[in-house]
This record gives sequence, structure tokens and C-alpha cells, in this order.
Amino acid sequence: MTHQRNILITGGAGFIGSHVVRRFVTKYPQYRIINLDALTYAGNLENLRDVEKAANYTFVKADICDADAVGKVFKAYAIDGVIHLAAESHVDRSITDPLSFVRTNVFGTVTLLNAAKDAWKGAFDVKRFYHVSTDEVYGSLHDGGLFLETTPYDPQSPYSASKAASDHFVRAYGNTYKLPFVVSNCSNNYGSHHFPEKLIPLMINNIRNNKPLPVYGKGENVRDWLWVEDHASAIDAVFHKGVVGETYNIGGHNEWKNIDLVHLLCRIMDQKLNRPEGESAKLITYVTDRAGHDLRYAIDAGKIERELGWKPSITFEVGLERTVEWYLANTEWLDHVTSGAYRSYYEAQYAR
Ligand code: NAD
Ligand code: TYD
Repeated sequence: MTHQRNILITGGAGFIGSHVVRRFVTKYPQYRIINLDALTYAGNLENLRDVEKAANYTFVKADICDADAVGKVFKAYAIDGVIHLAAESHVDRSITDPLSFVRTNVFGTVTLLNAAKDAWKGAFDVKRFYHVSTDEVYGSLHDGGLFLETTPYDPQSPYSASKAASDHFVRAYGNTYKLPFVVSNCSNNYGSHHFPEKLIPLMINNIRNNKPLPVYGKGENVRDWLWVEDHASAIDAVFHKGVVGETYNIGGHNEWKNIDLVHLLCRIMDQKLNRPEGESAKLITYVTDRAGHDLRYAIDAGKIERELGWKPSITFEVGLERTVEWYLANTEWLDHVTSGAYRSYYEAQYAR
């Protein structure tokens, strides 16, 4: 069967990537979706069990830093669109091992850009390179302001510095080689299939296991949370309707102080686990702050709302309850991803 489009999604076995793959495979049977993922600790094919047999889906295990493997995929599948999500994504890991972030996020992105440039050879009609990035490139807010697409870059962690560098390379390829690109910068995501090194799934897993809930510093840092399926719908909108060369900020207008969010999670978990009210909150433990911890992130998502007609589909209360229910219904998934290497990571990270 000839497909209308052949879309390469990188990092499709990860948290956000698996939601994007699922959405594209099921919503667009006329497209062929090629998921390229190296299956690092964060990549898990269990995230895609429900779509892995679909006729329009193909998985390729490869590293985005491997120019030969990436070039072969562009050729073999006549790739005409890229949605690039593969990355090292955890700030704490970037503090202990910055070079692996430079490798995947910078070197890997440039390798992918080269593959697109070489495969498309200037015949850019209908081609599109979509780079998925983060609001962390804008740095840390210390007042009531919001990140706009025009906010100057000011990354503060090795993770955000590596993402900022990759964003710059994408725009440089647009300027220099006329590669047709779009970029989006999204706020913190939450939802199912989220690796429990990140705040929300880590807290859910620890509450379930009656383990201490490690809140960094005073818990006063603020994050702007968006349901992952709403990020996937925004990615769909930007891929199909975004203007080449443009950047779109994505967010849910949903700011929470970490400590308030952890208390809310404790209340929801008490109800779901039939614990007396206040029981889970007793597990809250303040621990040494993250080095260089960004105080606040908050997105102005006005541009994507006005220009592409996108907005979040559910409230945080609904999304968080759905998320908790998913983890409690999928304890096998949680147990699986927190066995083995996760244990040594956890011990090293939280022994400080
Ligand atoms: P994740 O860590 O859950 O998944 C990353 C995926 O990339 C994994 O499947 C992993 O196996 C794969 N990968 C890593 N290195 C690779 C390599 N060298 N070659 C091929 N595959 C490789 O990440 P996520 O949270 O799903 O984030 C996806 C993207 O979205 C990232 O680019 C991240 O910067 C961006 N983002 C994330 C958030 C968030 O809240 N999680 C918010 C905004 C933007
Ligand atoms: P995280 O999920 O790592 O996302 P990011 O740092 O990319 O925003 O962390 C979200 C917030 O929660 C951040 O302010 C750090 C804080 N945090 C904790 O307090 N304890 C934890 O164990 C973790 C993982 C994060």
C-alpha cells in the first residue's frame, strides 16, 4: 500500500513519544509511522503494546547519533516528515552526566538534521522537520511574567542548555539550507507511561509503596503542568498546520508550587487507596535542593491557541485523577520500570 505520508517519529518508545505514536497510528491510517528509538532506560516498547501490530506502524531500534542507520531509515521508508522527540530528558541526570545530554540532544539532533537535508536534497515540497522542545530553554522566571516565543533563551541546567543548542541548530538549518522546520516549546507534561524519575509518577509510586516523598528544597518551585495527550494533540496541530520557520509555545495555564501539587496527589491517593485523610502526606520529606534549581516556568500559549485553534481538552483535576487511576491500574508497568537499574539510580540520586 502506498501511504500518503511517511513520518519518522524519534523517541516514540518514551513518555510523550508513545502518546504521539499512538495518536498518529490510530488517527491517520493513511500515514505510515516509523518509530525510531534506541530504547535507553527511558524507552519501553510496553508503552505501545496496543498499536504495535497496526498495519501502518514500524519500529526501528537505532540511535539518532548513528548517521548510517538514520540515513538508511530515510531511504528505506522515503521519509517526508520528522517529529523529533528522542532526547535525554531528566534534569537531575543532566547534572550528574552532562555529556550524554550533549551527545543525544545536540549531536543526535544534528545527525538527524543532516539525514533530512541529505535525503531531501533541496526538494522541500511537503517535507517538514518538527523539533519538539521544552520551555526550560527560556530559563527561570522570578516574577509574574510568562514565556513567549520571543523570550530570549537563557538555559540554566545542562539539560536545558543541550535542548537550547538543539533548537538553535534546527533554526540554523532552516536559515542556511532552507530546511523546512517547525519548533514547539512545551511546559511540564504529566499522564500515563511517565517514567518514575520525574516528580508526579515518582510521588505516585512512592505513596503507593509507603516510601518517603522527597521534595527538593522548600517545595516552592513552580511548574506549569499539561496533560500529555493534550501535548500530543498540540503536536498534531503544529505538524499539520504550523507555519514553516515558526515556533509555538504549548502550555496549560496551570501553575502549581511543587509542595501544593504533592499535597493534592496525597489527597487523591488517600481516597483511591482508602487511607485515612492525611495519611500519605505524612510521607513528605524535604531533601537537599537540586543544584541550580529553576524557580518557576510558565507558558503563554496564546499564539498556538489563536493561530492553530489548539487548547487543552481537560482540566488539571480531571487529568490528575485519570493519571493516578492509570498508575494504580498498571502497577505491573510501574514495578517493571522501577526494577533493575532504577534502584541504583534512585539510591544514588536520593542518598545526597
Ligand atoms: P523520555 O525520556 O520519556 O523519552 C525519551 C525517548 O528517547 C526514549 O524512548 C529513549 O529511548 C529515546 N532516546 C534517548 N536517547 C536516544 C538516542 N540517542 N537515539 C534514539 N532514541 C533515544 O522523554 P519525554 O519526556 O517523552 O520527552 C520527549 C521530548 O519532549 C524530549 O525531546 C523532551 O525534551 C521534550 N519535552 C518533554 C517535556 C516533559 O515534561 N517530559 C516537556 C517539554 C518537552
Ligand atoms: P521534574 O519532574 O524533574 O521536571 P523538571 O525539573 O524538568 O521541571 O521536576 C518537577 C519539579 O519537581 C522540579 O521543581 C523539581 C521537583 N522535584 C522534587 O521536588 N522532587 C523530586 O524527587 C523530583 C524528581 C522533582
